[in-house]
Amino acid sequence: MGTPTRLARLCVRLACAAAVFASGHAHAVSTAADEVQGALRLTPDLARGERAFETCAACHGADGTGAADGSVPAIAGQYARVLMKQVVAFRHDDRLNIRMQHFVDSHHLADAQQLADVIGFVSSLPPRMAPVGAAPGAQGAELYARHCRACHGDSGQGDERRAVPRLAGQHPQYVLEQLQDAAQGRRASMQRDHTRALLKLQDAELGTLAAYASALRASREDGPSPANGAGPPGAAAPR
Ligand code: HEC
Ligand code: HEC
Repeated sequence: MGTPTRLARLCVRLACAAAVFASGHAHAVSTAADEVQGALRLTPDLARGERAFETCAACHGADGTGAADGSVPAIAGQYARVLMKQVVAFRHDDRLNIRMQHFVDSHHLADAQQLADVIGFVSSLPPRMAPVGAAPGAQGAELYARHCRACHGDSGQGDERRAVPRLAGQHPQYVLEQLQDAAQGRRASMQRDHTRALLKLQDAELGTLAAYASALRASREDGPSPANGAGPPGAAAPR
């Protein structure tokens, strides 16, 4: 009983693999994870990266700080590992946005070196700072400390080593949309634990968290988040 069914499933899988391969996408030969690792191993040529960034600047702005209404995210100063994972996710259709998918596809960024160059340049730009006095409320502070701080850091600085994005200075509307997208299953490349943790929160809490985290003002020198190593006492890890 089990064997023919299993065989049938295997055939379907093989047929799919063959179809993907035959479709001629360069990506089909490497997984997203391989592409990320391969490109991160290369030494970026920042001058070439700066030239390639002209394409990105059309949307993300010449300084990489995105659009004030949050329709385009700030990317300047984000960790290279975070940028690489996200750009590659768009290349592999694991994150969906027609505009982004188009401009980072293999016609625009042909190989790992071109990816490394442009991402090296973007992460070298000074990060966007939230306006002074965008006062975070007490409820935001409490929610953030309980659910997010262990990874995203005391001041929203993220963590390069673990590829945790910097949230400080990101546009609040963009952060909110990402939280909603993730909670509703539209961000396939995000870790499942993360999505599950967000599902436990109410819509209003997501709004409060987006406003709070984006108003944080992390400097580049802020160290990695407290959760490195043993982790802070009482820090909530998402389950
Ligand atoms: C036509 C406009 C456009 C161009 C050109 C463009 N982007 Fe984007 N980018 C966007 C939009 C819109 C988003 C947000 C997508 C979403 O909501 O998921 C985005 C998202 C991103 C993200 C994810 C940020 C995060 O915090 O998760 C990265 C990284 C990024 N872009 C890098 C680049 C780079 C590098 C280039 C140039 C090679 C580029 N983009 C070119 C519009 C663009
Ligand atoms: C266990 C560590 C961890 C915890 C806890 C955590 N995050 Fe994250 N967060 C990450 C990682 C890693 C990513 C990158 C996900 C990916 O690769 O797409 C991320 C991505 C995000 C993004 C997308 C940012 C972008 O630029 O695309 C947002 C927004 C976010 N987290 C907000 C939160 C909030 C709000 C909380 C608390 C409710 C939280 N996170 C808790 C590790 C964590």
